[in-house]
Amino acid sequence: MKEFAARRRRLMHMMGRGTIAILPTAPVRLRNRDVEYPYRPDSDFYYLTGFPEPEAVAVLLPGRSQGEYILFCRERDPGLEVWTGPRAGQEGARAHYGADDAFPIGDIDDILPGLMENREKVFYTMGSCPEYDQRIPEWLQQIRAKSRAGVHAPGEIVALDHLLHEMRLFKSRREISHMRRAARISAAAHRRAMQCCRPGLYEYHLEAELLATFMRHGCRSPAYPPIVGGGGNACVLHYTANDAELRDGDLVLIDAGAEYRHYAADITRTFPVNGRFTAPQRAIYELVLAAQEAAIARVRPGNHWLDPHQAAVRVLTRGLRDLGLLRGDLRHLLKKEACKRFFMHRTGHWLGMDVHDVGDYKVGDAWRLLEPGMVLTVEPGLYIPAGSRGVAKKWWNIGVRIEDDVLVTRDGCDILSKDVPKTVAEIEALVGTACE
Ligand code: GLY
Ligand code: MN
Ligand code: MN
Repeated sequence: MKEFAARRRRLMHMMGRGTIAILPTAPVRLRNRDVEYPYRPDSDFYYLTGFPEPEAVAVLLPGRSQGEYILFCRERDPGLEVWTGPRAGQEGARAHYGADDAFPIGDIDDILPGLMENREKVFYTMGSCPEYDQRIPEWLQQIRAKSRAGVHAPGEIVALDHLLHEMRLFKSRREISHMRRAARISAAAHRRAMQCCRPGLYEYHLEAELLATFMRHGCRSPAYPPIVGGGGNACVLHYTANDAELRDGDLVLIDAGAEYRHYAADITRTFPVNGRFTAPQRAIYELVLAAQEAAIARVRPGNHWLDPHQAAVRVLTRGLRDLGLLRGDLRHLLKKEACKRFFMHRTGHWLGMDVHDVGDYKVGDAWRLLEPGMVLTVEPGLYIPAGSRGVAKKWWNIGVRIEDDVLVTRDGCDILSKDVPKTVAEIEALVGTACE
């Protein structure tokens, strides 16, 4: 709770006096009739409050003498709590979540406009929540209607995410420790999937091993739906059907990460279903691995965001040319971004509470410089679906991605996900060792 309070103080300091911030959490979402998706609070909201319940809105009022942090949340309701479990209520919000004051969420229309009166700016992220996107202008209108009574309505709505996402981009020691834990647990899950793999299983059998390992180690949920793609399915970047048979002679690509205390891991490994790479699979695998190593070597303070990507692209382009998958002069191939045909995504993204975490990638027109405390993924890949024109058949249905989670440190970087095997020898030694 101390860390949440410190974050609120820092944000309020940046907002300045005479302002108000309004942050709703995520709504409960229906999966189908009467069935809800597992609830996950909004990351921005949780980052500042640590409050886990739905139907809540945090309000920050820098400099307000009667209290700077107000939480609107559900009321206690013994009847409903029999069905869905205990609620903090307003008393709990004050006693356990550090709110200076708390009100029932049902009273927000009566109370919040009053809190906005005579403030200059409203910090709110438009587009973040359709319900409040509509209500905030309505409240402003109500306040304007009182102008003859001397009430002054805020003149500006300012996007909150610039300030908040800049804070979230730099991870504290505690956040890094959560992320390390998420990565370690995810690494154990990947090792387990490798050990259990054999031809004839279905992709979801490996998914089951991943999820079981996450939960066994205290992660209730993956950070995103796992991808387990055998053969050509590895070439579908966002494949999540995970329902095909794993065939002898194919590779399988697993992209899976656990969420630990609202922090994500995001790890990909690719390995042969039967434990032995064929020569073409191995050639592509070694190339992606070399690209990933070159990219990770570029992760250090002072380098810019695109440096790792550019390093990966150079290695991949040269390698594809050496293998005969691209033809022509290297400089020309690099200039026309020829490797995009087989590597169509970027080498990484910020990682944190959200798997594709917040934070600007550019400052003005320039790529952002890497600084200690940032965490990013490094995940080059090559994808060669069956039927690729002008590509020899031996390369078809090979899809390889290798993804690690990398913390920028003072003098370089630290690979949080290093506990999953990555070399051909390590992988061949592990796959299938736990088959019943
Ligand atoms: N798992 C999502 C990604 O790798 O970006
Ligand atoms: Mn991933
Ligand atoms: Mn990723």
